[in-house]
Amino acid sequence: MTYAGRVWMITGAGRGLGHAFARAALEAGDRVVATARRPDALGELAAAHPERAVVLPLDVTDRSAVFSTIERANAAFGRLDVVVNNAGYGLLGAIEELTEAEARAQLETNVFGALWVTQAVLPHMRARRSGHIVQVSSVGGVGSMPTFGLYNASKWALEGFSEALAAEVAPFGVRVTIAELGGFATDWAWRSMRFATSLPAYDGLRESLFGSARVPWDMSHQASDTSADPAEAASALVAHVRRDDGPLRLLIGDDAPEHVRMALERRRDDYRRDGRFRWPV
Ligand SMILES: NC(=O)c1ccc[n+]([C@@H]2O[C@H](COP(=O)([O-])OP(=O)(O)OC[C@H]3O[C@@H](n4cnc5c(N)ncnc54)[C@H](OP(=O)(O)O)[C@@H]3O)[C@@H](O)[C@H]2O)c1
Repeated sequence: MTYAGRVWMITGAGRGLGHAFARAALEAGDRVVATARRPDALGELAAAHPERAVVLPLDVTDRSAVFSTIERANAAFGRLDVVVNNAGYGLLGAIEELTEAEARAQLETNVFGALWVTQAVLPHMRARRSGHIVQVSSVGGVGSMPTFGLYNASKWALEGFSEALAAEVAPFGVRVTIAELGGFATDWAWRSMRFATSLPAYDGLRESLFGSARVPWDMSHQASDTSADPAEAASALVAHVRRDDGPLRLLIGDDAPEHVRMALERRRDDYRRDGRFRWPV
């Protein structure tokens, strides 16, 4: 398959990283089925590439809509080569602060949304004995941070099922990538962030982490706490997809390797407290 021939499907492509992934794939000459809860957000991108872009509405938490949309997406260009499970959001709240609804909603989008898309696309990829599923995870899918516990849980769950999936579908010629992103300047930490109702007991923790105990925080004076351009993440992903021998876990972003290193060291050091645990030096 030549690179220019790939067909992508991307969830949550209306803005942020998903939009950047869609733009980069189109600019590389590929075709894209871009899905979004509000398809209007993709009007301009679709108009710029009328032959190679198709926009479909999709809320990934609606399982039956996921299955019917994958059918439509597959029919749009006759196949799906690269499916990017990008739709997701962050939830800020200490474990004790989270309501049942907040916790379930986080997993519905970040875990089950990706699971339904994966299940829906696999019969098509298996039949063609080809395809690539990209799960947009985070350095928070390797380590954790206080007040982001359920977000961490969602990305750890995504990584857990995706690592098993990679071994299940490799014999069918289907590839899986777990993209572990560092910080990028999107709405993730601002407009998209959901906040639990805070308990005063955790004010000191928030103060030490964020410089203020107040949530929701006001980021109207800045777009994000990082300046990393989502377009850089997108070009890293496009380059990775072009390689046939890329790793299962793809670090994206200048800060990602250090976050992962610190998280793995913390785990290793904890296991080392068990004298039976050996780690090669
Ligand atoms: N930005 C970062 O620093 C960073 C770092 C690591 C990982 N990530 C991950 O990257 C992914 C994209 O985030 P982003 O940074 O681009 O944030 P963003 O700018 O807030 O974009 C999130 C996208 O996900 C969509 N979305 C949320 N819930 C959805 C649902 N139920 N169904 C369909 N679409 C849904 C949003 O759609 P609407 O426009 O309709 O709300 C939006 O298009 C997420 O999985 C996030 O966890 C981000």
